[in-house]
Amino acid sequence: MKPRVLSGVHVTGWGAYAPSLVLTNADLERLVETSDEWIVSRTGIRERRIAGPGETTASMAAIAGLRAIATAGLQPEDIDLILVGTLTPDYPLPSAAVLVKEAIGNTKAAAMDLAAACSGFVYGYAMAHAYLSSGLGKHALVVGSETMSRCTDFTDRGTCVLFGDGAGAAVLSASDEPGGTLGMELTTDTAATYSIWIPAGGATRPANEATVAGREHLMRMKGGETFKVAVRRLGSTSLRALEKAGMGLDDVDLVVPHQANIRILEALAKSMSFPMERVFVNIDRYGNTSAASVPIALVEAVAEGRIKQGDRIVLVAFGAGGTAGAVALEWTADPADRLRADAVDPDSISISVPNIEPVNPFPPALEWLLEKVESDAGNGRRPGPDARSTTTISDAAVSGAGRSAAVTPPER
Ligand code: UT7
Repeated sequence: MKPRVLSGVHVTGWGAYAPSLVLTNADLERLVETSDEWIVSRTGIRERRIAGPGETTASMAAIAGLRAIATAGLQPEDIDLILVGTLTPDYPLPSAAVLVKEAIGNTKAAAMDLAAACSGFVYGYAMAHAYLSSGLGKHALVVGSETMSRCTDFTDRGTCVLFGDGAGAAVLSASDEPGGTLGMELTTDTAATYSIWIPAGGATRPANEATVAGREHLMRMKGGETFKVAVRRLGSTSLRALEKAGMGLDDVDLVVPHQANIRILEALAKSMSFPMERVFVNIDRYGNTSAASVPIALVEAVAEGRIKQGDRIVLVAFGAGGTAGAVALEWTADPADRLRADAVDPDSISISVPNIEPVNPFPPALEWLLEKVESDAGNGRRPGPDARSTTTISDAAVSGAGRSAAVTPPER
């Protein structure tokens, strides 16, 4: 089936950032009653990344964003719109997108966050597409960035084994060339309104001593319920986006889905009679990074040669609040352009901080991980692909608070 062009918006840049701290399943066995065997067989996850004390959603987003801008062969000032999909912004106000705009040195873009949980990047893609195709701008930076470790309850084995931190980004550009975005579908299923939620910290239950004591500012999830809606919605939104593009599943070279659970992806593929070989999977190394999951997977798929010019791909996500979205597109960029991202020096990026008392945002339950990493480094073990210290935001933000005296991993 021949796809028709929607309206000339292409992915021209892509980039990602993963923190260097690695939390393995064996590490989690020390925190909660679980096992590597259970986690791998029930989720497909082997390890996930954890943002260091000096890293935040905005700092990771800025690095991923600059890498995407460099890949596109653009300058930060060329960007007209910055959207950050996140459920873990640095502050309730201002948005993470504003901090990213400032950090990358852009003066002209409209910047805002997008609250669609794990679907944040795909929703952002669709919003940016609408913005560009209506003539409001030429280039948009769409980011998914999450510091899930800061809203994870590390006493809850049902959720703490699932989530990780990181950021991914894409530059979308208006262009009259053929290809690019072909079809999109967004939906929100209210059957899943409270399947994943954080009870406190909003207007209904503002944070107070009782909500903190009750761990109400941390994420809760009805796993089984979410699983079923996820499989259903990932499938239906993909098919609807393809239908709008005038395509069928046989036309798809690769599906790049939200990485929530390998069993969800296998059930999805089975339900659509689609081969798993054409579903990109990297959940084993990152876990569920919420809004960052699809763009990190996209970046890795290009780097691994799984996406070539002319390929038809589907980006698809499902998330809290029942949000779901899919984009069918024809990839037009040269995968070799990714090498331009090497010019970005992550250590040159800093996020501005107000003059208030700094706090250490690192999860207390994981403080021993910092010491473990230091001792691994002393033993010559790998520090991870983004081998750098954890200070990407101004040192003032974490001065004196970056390391704790806790050296002993908690025993169950
Ligand atoms: O990103 C947004 C979308 N998120 C999702 O789509 C997540 C969807 N849900 C899931 O991926 C799965 O439901 C989970 C991975 C969260 C849970 O897997 P499950 O196969 O649905 O397990 P379950 O919740 O039905 O629990 C089965 C058993 C329970 O024990 P009992 O009651 O049978 O004795 C749980 O207590 O597994 C137990 N369990 C665990 N055991 C070891 C739950 N978590 C763990 C754990 N380690 N980490």
